[in-house]
Amino acid sequence: MSSVQIGINFAYIISAIMFIIGLKMLSSPATARRGNLLSALGMLLAIVVTLFAQGLDYKWIVLGVVIGSVIGLITAYKVAMTSMPEMVALFNGFGGLSSLLVAWAEYYQYPDMSIFIATVAALSVFIGGVTFSGSMVAFGKLNGSIPSKAVIFKGQHLINAAFLLIIIVATGLFAVDAAATYWVFLVIVVIALAFGVTSVIPIGGADMPVVISLLNSYSGLAACAAGFVISNNILIVAGALVGASGIILTKIMCKAMNRSLANVLFSGFGSTTHAAGGDGPQGEIKPASAEDVYYILEAADSVAFVPGYGLAVAQAQHVTKELGDLLEANGTEVMYAIHPVAGRMPGHMNVLLAEANVPYDQLVEMDDINPRMDSIDVCVVIGANDVVNPAAIQDENSPIYGMPIIETFRAKTVIVLKRSMNPGFAGIQNALFFAENTRMYFGDAKASLQALVAEFKSGN
Ligand code: TAP
Repeated sequence: MSSVQIGINFAYIISAIMFIIGLKMLSSPATARRGNLLSALGMLLAIVVTLFAQGLDYKWIVLGVVIGSVIGLITAYKVAMTSMPEMVALFNGFGGLSSLLVAWAEYYQYPDMSIFIATVAALSVFIGGVTFSGSMVAFGKLNGSIPSKAVIFKGQHLINAAFLLIIIVATGLFAVDAAATYWVFLVIVVIALAFGVTSVIPIGGADMPVVISLLNSYSGLAACAAGFVISNNILIVAGALVGASGIILTKIMCKAMNRSLANVLFSGFGSTTHAAGGDGPQGEIKPASAEDVYYILEAADSVAFVPGYGLAVAQAQHVTKELGDLLEANGTEVMYAIHPVAGRMPGHMNVLLAEANVPYDQLVEMDDINPRMDSIDVCVVIGANDVVNPAAIQDENSPIYGMPIIETFRAKTVIVLKRSMNPGFAGIQNALFFAENTRMYFGDAKASLQALVAEFKSGN
């Protein structure tokens, strides 16, 4: 090994350590930003030292860096926080496509591959292809360019099984004699792309964040395989880290929704539409005006805000914080209770509240707030629905039965901010809205909170 090569590998080890420490730091909101920066620096180091490798044609690299940076910069500035899952879907998709192309380029240059290299090249193409086309479908479902409903078709599982079988046979044929089986390689490319579409299209749009997290994991595995194909150690390590962290996140999301991964992938959740009012309990509700809610909050010693998807839709994070500050100034203890799958993407509420500068020590996890729920004076539910639905623990026949929830129904008073009686993601009605201790404060969450802030400021 040349001294340049030794130097490169040494730098790769440092990059890998930076990735791992960076990942660890992502697990707490207080260190997440620095963790992200550290990992990004690790990637920069890896890229810079890779440029010292022999035989590179720099003009293509510079062109790629310039085009990629411009597109990346523009999209990073322009993308709305609520569109982040779409952006991640695109990132994953292109990551998968790059792995496919890297393996293809290597095969094109050195067709005489060993059995091992041919096998990992086929894996890289297969997983990369599935990731690319699957992510494009996920992207389309999220941004509405293709119907977000779960598209169930006859023989779907059979077709997918046939695709898998073809891939296994084709990989075997290709591995034995790569140089003579270019057509088999092309079959793997085509089937991989088709398989990505047929496996994601039957999944409902609202389940896309889970799918995207899974595809993120696939993109890592594809990169890992590509790392073996071109004998690049940091690509192997980074790919394995992405693969592992993606699958862990997928598992966490499934657990918080009380659904198995198989249920997300194969059940066609969202293929049927629900009645406007949602299935489930009905009854009488007690609407409240801004003034009513003001009096309740003004007299409270402790208030827990429980944000959900509606907070993101209304972009009500800043005015929530403003109200929180006013309550604190009034001597009230203020908390923000976070459910792990509130909203539509992992960490959705954390990101929004961090944007509004809510102090980390006021964020309370579901498992920490539930034990003290009976002593909380008022829970203000802001555009959350499923994550506070008591059916999850009280009604065995409910589709969300078993999902852990923030048990707001046990608080002394609950104020629910939403626009109508429409259901949330799961499409079911919520008994909390009809409970004795609940008041419904209808309207767009931002406007409703602004009205409360105005009440506080005028001292009513
Ligand atoms: P949801 O149950 O979806 O309820 C959101 C509520 O917000 C709706 O009932 C809606 O009622 C209200 N809303 C919408 N826009 C509003 C606005 N502008 N102002 C006020 N209210 C508004 O949300 P959740 O409680 O956050 O639960 C999340 C759901 O998504 C769970 O079922 C979870 O399993 C699922 N999910 C989450 C993830 C992740 S990773 N977070 C991924 C996939 C699925 P109105 O229309 O009446 O206003």
